[in-house]
Amino acid sequence: CMTRNYTFNIVQHNVTRLCHTKSIVSVNGHFPGPRIVAREGDQLLVKVVNHVSNNITIHWHGIRQLRSGWADGPAYVTQCPIQTGQTFTYNFTITGQRGTLFWHAHISWLRATVYGPIIIHPKRNESYPFRKPYKEVPIIFGEWWNADPEAVINQALQTGTGPNVSDAYTINGFPGPLYNCSSKDTFRLKVKPGKTYMLRLINAAMNDELFFSIANHTVIIVEADAPYYPNATFLMAARPYFTGQGTFDNSTVAGILEYEHPLNHTFNTKKMVFKPTLPPLNATTLVANFTGKFRSLNNPNFTASVPQTVDKQFYFTVGLGSSPCPKNTTCQGPNGTKLAAALNNVSFALPTTALLQAYVTKKSNGVYTTDFPTKPPSPFNYTGTPPNNTLVSNATRLVVLPFNTSVELVLQDTSILGAEDHPLHLHGFNFFVVGQGFGNYNPTQDPANFNLVDPVERNTFGVPAGGWVAIRFLADNPGVWFMHCHFDVHTSWGLRMAWIVMDGPLPSQKLPPPPSDLPKC
Ligand code: C2O
Repeated sequence: CMTRNYTFNIVQHNVTRLCHTKSIVSVNGHFPGPRIVAREGDQLLVKVVNHVSNNITIHWHGIRQLRSGWADGPAYVTQCPIQTGQTFTYNFTITGQRGTLFWHAHISWLRATVYGPIIIHPKRNESYPFRKPYKEVPIIFGEWWNADPEAVINQALQTGTGPNVSDAYTINGFPGPLYNCSSKDTFRLKVKPGKTYMLRLINAAMNDELFFSIANHTVIIVEADAPYYPNATFLMAARPYFTGQGTFDNSTVAGILEYEHPLNHTFNTKKMVFKPTLPPLNATTLVANFTGKFRSLNNPNFTASVPQTVDKQFYFTVGLGSSPCPKNTTCQGPNGTKLAAALNNVSFALPTTALLQAYVTKKSNGVYTTDFPTKPPSPFNYTGTPPNNTLVSNATRLVVLPFNTSVELVLQDTSILGAEDHPLHLHGFNFFVVGQGFGNYNPTQDPANFNLVDPVERNTFGVPAGGWVAIRFLADNPGVWFMHCHFDVHTSWGLRMAWIVMDGPLPSQKLPPPPSDLPKC
């Protein structure tokens, strides 16, 4: 194992897409940002120097951060932002993970332009539990905004409405030939016939889940969220999976897969265009069948063990709602309110200091309380009529978990303001998806069907539109851990909360003290 050093200079950088040039916040002047490449077991030191006028933090999405919670990155959760002119070095070790993750800014909507791949190779002398690829290619999906994403969310939060959407989806920063004024900005992958390629797919889009397929090719899934998977074959350009209400511009980003030497002379790929088929926008059942088929490798060399017993059960409703309009503003949300989003009707407010610092220094007074509800305020019925009262409360309420608590959490989508899939992301842990279904979760019947043998191990999982998902995780990582919908607009509206995991009794079960360069608020 070794230490790998990276320097991330946060700088403004001019980029042109869709015939529109603008200055974006970037890492080292790259869009998308640089790759982090490491092996399992390596230590990473990433020195972030902020040269722009925005505050910034960087999050290492999916990295477990075992006993390195200070390096996790969500602003006002584990750290205060790195201000203009300041430097902070993220210091963490990759433990028990290999595969594809990504890093992104974790403050406001800066991740629209500040993101890049994390590639974790197996330990030296270890090989993949699948056919060795001839080449590995990162494919990172994102969005292009002609407007400034910061202005988009700020305006939406002020008026209480939904924000504008982006102007294009991108593959490795390029919108591709299906958009106007974009054909030269197309990602091309040159391949050799008969070789196996491993695509490291990352969805860095702000507010969408995406379908992906390659025309006339079969894609085999071998890893997701950094555990390996048994070679599962799924026929799968990218297009959003959208279960919300309203119409949506179903624009499609395309890239080109091109053979270096055609297979034979009558097969000239340069002249032929094969169009991939993609599921319809709202293919809820297809998605549930697809994600429901996954199994973990269930191999002790690569897989953590599924908690067989549960110490603490939680039931969270997940969905949209609204909050009262502040005085002297005109809110354009439902019935003159502001759109909001909540877990158990709590729309989580970020403090102006960092939760982890407040917890460790025992200065939680006025910063947060530890009474996050374990279940919704009133019994939830998905099939019944949605409540007239869609109001949520604003608060900074957390849950405290003693070290090594085995947690079971059922996440239930609400139909309030429309059923919608929510990709819930948990920091600091991988969780096991032990069950999912449509309609109301039934606590007396559904647990009998839980998969406690080979469930998938993820850090993000979609709570199905009009359905529920049950997850389990072992709280073995002391710190304060954010959990939120990975749609940034929902996070901004409050669909987020945090877990405090206490230190264990042994020195190896405690969170070390904060690094000396940790930014102050
Ligand atoms: Cu990739 Cu808290 O997020």
